[in-house]
Amino acid sequence: YHVDWDEKAAEKGGYKHFMYKEIMEDPQALVNALVGRVKNDRPFFEELEYYEELLKDADRIRVVSCGTSYYAGLVFKYFLENHTDIDVEVEVSSEFRYKRPHIKEGDVLIAISQSGETADTLESVRLAKKHGAKIVSIVNVVGSTLDRESDVTLFMNAGPEIGVAATKTYVAELAVLYLLGLKVMEINGYWDREAEEILDKLVRMPELLENVLRKDPQIRELSEKYKDYRNFMYIGRGYGYPTALEGALKLKEITYIHATAYQAGELKHGPIALLDVDFPVFAVMPDDSLFFKTKSNVIESKSRNAPVIVLGTEGNRSLEEITGDIIHVPPTHESLYPLMMAPVIQLFAYHIADLKGLDPDKPRNLAKSVTVE
Ligand code: G6P
Repeated sequence: YHVDWDEKAAEKGGYKHFMYKEIMEDPQALVNALVGRVKNDRPFFEELEYYEELLKDADRIRVVSCGTSYYAGLVFKYFLENHTDIDVEVEVSSEFRYKRPHIKEGDVLIAISQSGETADTLESVRLAKKHGAKIVSIVNVVGSTLDRESDVTLFMNAGPEIGVAATKTYVAELAVLYLLGLKVMEINGYWDREAEEILDKLVRMPELLENVLRKDPQIRELSEKYKDYRNFMYIGRGYGYPTALEGALKLKEITYIHATAYQAGELKHGPIALLDVDFPVFAVMPDDSLFFKTKSNVIESKSRNAPVIVLGTEGNRSLEEITGDIIHVPPTHESLYPLMMAPVIQLFAYHIADLKGLDPDKPRNLAKSVTVE
């Protein structure tokens, strides 16, 4: 016989939605992406063994991807450009595939795709290959088209993701990209104490992500308070910017609230005109080298009466001067905050969707993988 509801509940591991379950799996996804990939305190990819030459003396690396995978690519760009002289160009696949490719024989193109089936990303890869690029892909689904068509595939190992909006696979993508970034640094003579420190902090992060998930009740309370706004402005600088973009995307996708994301320094060039008492600002401002810059942008927003939520670092008392609505994450290396903060932006969007009675697993008009143009 068939007990339908029971099966479904079991699949969700007792959680109301797959998305919720998958966010709770963020720390495990991080562990799975790291396992076997650190050897003698250095990043290690078995898959790259015969391809390390490709990443040597690269003066430029190109990245293509879509949606959440694109934002993971942006983090990679900040990471590698902050730690090496290598240029990283990250482009949305649907743009890349229709432009003059600027690829020369032996260039490396990194393609990031959870599903490995996104049509625009596949076509970008085919175009780049035709012009002589070697393809390193970061993929979750083993045996997917992208996996088969790449020279090297680095798997995310996140397990199946059912919710349409990417959550744990974003964490897995970031983990693989940090390791790859560190690997590129090592291969090209950029390995130093700081690289060691980043790797060490990355490896210790799963435990800290568990702590971040314990903020869930507080994030739900904040979601309750903010769920009826019609607009949101996410801002951040440096590594905070991709986090702002991903936070705004999550909110749009599953709550249908309009959200936009800006580099905090760009506010004054237009978007600040939007702000008022009905237009909250979600400020991504960890304790990093740009903290005081972002803080002054947030204070400008406040003077337009915008309600402010701050996502910042534990122990920073100056956040309380800005707002009472603060979500803290544990301190880490500044490059790693996108990973540390991922569960927060995901939970915030999730709870608003749930409180609005929406099904975050099946947002309207969206598909898990977009296999058509
Ligand atoms: C769809 C999904 C997004 C995802 C994007 C890219 O739009 O709804 O969550 O980020 O595709 O998917 P990919 O499988 O290429 O990472």
